[in-house]
Amino acid sequence: MRVVCLISGEGTNLQALIDWQADGLLGDARIVAVISNAAAALGLERAGNAGIPTKILSHRDFSNRSAFDHALIQFIDVYEPNLVVLAGFMRILTSGFVTHYEKRLINMHPSLLPKYKGLNTHKRALGAGEKNAGATVHWVTPELDAGDIIRQVEVPISAEDTEETLKAKVLDAEHRLYPSVIRDLSLGLIKC
Ligand code: GAR
Repeated sequence: MRVVCLISGEGTNLQALIDWQADGLLGDARIVAVISNAAAALGLERAGNAGIPTKILSHRDFSNRSAFDHALIQFIDVYEPNLVVLAGFMRILTSGFVTHYEKRLINMHPSLLPKYKGLNTHKRALGAGEKNAGATVHWVTPELDAGDIIRQVEVPISAEDTEETLKAKVLDAEHRLYPSVIRDLSLGLIKC
């Protein structure tokens, strides 16, 4: 299963995928390229260190969202992916893009969807007095963070948690969740 990862920043989820792949734990999945919309994304360095081809496509070079998405499709499809993985890719995608990758496009979202779609998920969960936060891997559909849920993990919130400590705990859980989902997709253990 050929996997293209899209990133915008730190790339710690990408690193988890790279590590599982290096350890032979990613099933039949293989990361064939990493594409970032930000030249400064640390994830590009992580991919480079692992010998994975990288590309940068800045949204700033395009006058509108659909022109960027169209160019992004051209970049991605060179690698003939079976799966496109959004790993901290902080762009809202057009329905044209999402439809092009129907059932081949997944996202990691740092909340227990359907709760807390969008941004500032940890701040909102803390503000609401939730007992649990978490992370969700879901199929991407045109509506933001609303596609079918593939798998979720719960992370208990403690009284001492701040936005920063909660973010770290959830990220840690994400780093096991995303590789395990991609492994299981590659092995046909999760149905589309
Ligand atoms: C992760 O927490 C991920 O769930 C979140 O961005 C972070 C990326 O971290 N994604 C979203 O909020 C998507 N809307 P990373 O770059 O270190 O993997």
